[in-house]
Amino acid sequence: MKTADSLIKKLKNKTARIAVIGLGYVGLPLAVEKAKMGFKVTGIDVNLKRVKMVNKGECYIPDVVDAGMSELVKAKKLRATRDFSVLKNMDTVCICVPTPLDENKDPDISYIRATTKQVAKYLHKGQLVSLESTTYPGTTEEIMLPELEKTGLTAGKDFFLVFSPERVDPGNKQFKLKNTPKVIGGVTKACSRVAQALYGQIIDNIMVVSSPRVAEMEKLLENIFRSVNIALVNELAMLCKKMGINIWEVVDAAATKPYGFMPFYPGPGIGGHCIPLDPIYLSWKAKKYDFRTEFIELAARINENMPEYVVRLLVDALNKQGKSIKNAKIVLLGVAYKKDIDDWRESPALKLFELIKKFGAQIVYHDPYIHSVKTAKNGKPEKSVKLTGALIKTADCLLIATDHSCFDYKKIIAGAKLIVDTRGVTRKFGEFKNVEVL
Ligand SMILES: NC(=O)c1ccc[n+]([C@@H]2O[C@H](COP(=O)([O-])OP(=O)(O)OC[C@H]3O[C@@H](n4cnc5c(N)ncnc54)[C@H](O)[C@@H]3O)[C@@H](O)[C@H]2O)c1
Repeated sequence: MKTADSLIKKLKNKTARIAVIGLGYVGLPLAVEKAKMGFKVTGIDVNLKRVKMVNKGECYIPDVVDAGMSELVKAKKLRATRDFSVLKNMDTVCICVPTPLDENKDPDISYIRATTKQVAKYLHKGQLVSLESTTYPGTTEEIMLPELEKTGLTAGKDFFLVFSPERVDPGNKQFKLKNTPKVIGGVTKACSRVAQALYGQIIDNIMVVSSPRVAEMEKLLENIFRSVNIALVNELAMLCKKMGINIWEVVDAAATKPYGFMPFYPGPGIGGHCIPLDPIYLSWKAKKYDFRTEFIELAARINENMPEYVVRLLVDALNKQGKSIKNAKIVLLGVAYKKDIDDWRESPALKLFELIKKFGAQIVYHDPYIHSVKTAKNGKPEKSVKLTGALIKTADCLLIATDHSCFDYKKIIAGAKLIVDTRGVTRKFGEFKNVEVL
């Protein structure tokens, strides 16, 4: 207990030295927030460009991190490095590395494995290690714990190991790191107690669960919940279209129920580093228990097919105007996976772009947040074009894939020959003959 208590004391009086491994959408805001709370924070990333930018006080995730990074760097509260040996002097280590899928669409936990090996090299008595990357239940105890205990140190006694999932929601102005409750699952009670002292300094509400597996599973439940509900409403949107019922009106009406209902809206599919990938982490693990996670697979199938459905809508809408998709001039509005952010990972807009191109249409995109993007894995990058009045007028169709707030919808509606709106964003301006809403 002495080891835990002395680390807790350092955390409470903010003399603990903090490391964050992986300075992306999750890790950078975490590092900045901890530095703002008065800790000395060292970020570790393999990406030299990111390391250099942090050390210059430059933020590359503008939407997530507030201004003030350069002040933190100047005050020596925040710095970054590629050198893992700094871990020797760190009291806590938060791991925020990617957890993608491999080419067979299985979980790729190689980043967690590689990082754990580095942490093990420098693990010492009185250190807290917290995994924040989303992963399948069992990763902390089956992969990390044995690797860290190979050092001869024991979790819960000599060092502390927890899983504490990250809930950052890029673009969310209301819920930031501080006011979003955080879940902690320690390998032992002492592990959770120490992690609570760390996160309790920067986050208002902490919920401790009985094990890392519970914390790993709860994070997946959050994301599966979203994937399944989005798939459900997408399926109903397709049915409603056939039945001549407006799905958006249906959802708005259902949302007036003050209990037992939470609105989800249809769209061109799901994107980002979390919702399309994380559920697969669980279905993969479930197979080891001879269990099929049918909801997950069904939801993935429906959501993955949405871009094809949207293209069918586009083809029909052009047809109604006596046009063929071949050689049609299409402007894709937005390639980010959701509005007002610059993240295009797994964005359904990329699939839309490629599908439309395959039909022989002339397609370009406009996204003020994303100046260039690779729509196909091995293709050349496409560049965002300027959305001029002339482009709006001459395009055969503008396809709204992302409902960025900064788009001038009134101008677009007034000037376009045809719009296919996959986000229902034009509804607030009225009903228009030239607009086909999903
Ligand atoms: N982006 C989100 O909104 C979000 C939300 C909640 C949870 N998550 C989860 O958090 C984790 C990180 O996601 P992200 O969006 O921040 O990813 P990201 O790609 O934005 O950032 C990951 C960072 O880790 C670095 N990195 C890769 N390998 C490394 C290594 N071996 N050592 C050190 N650094 C390394 C990369 O260079 C990159 O800067 C994932 O598991 C993700 O599922 C993401």
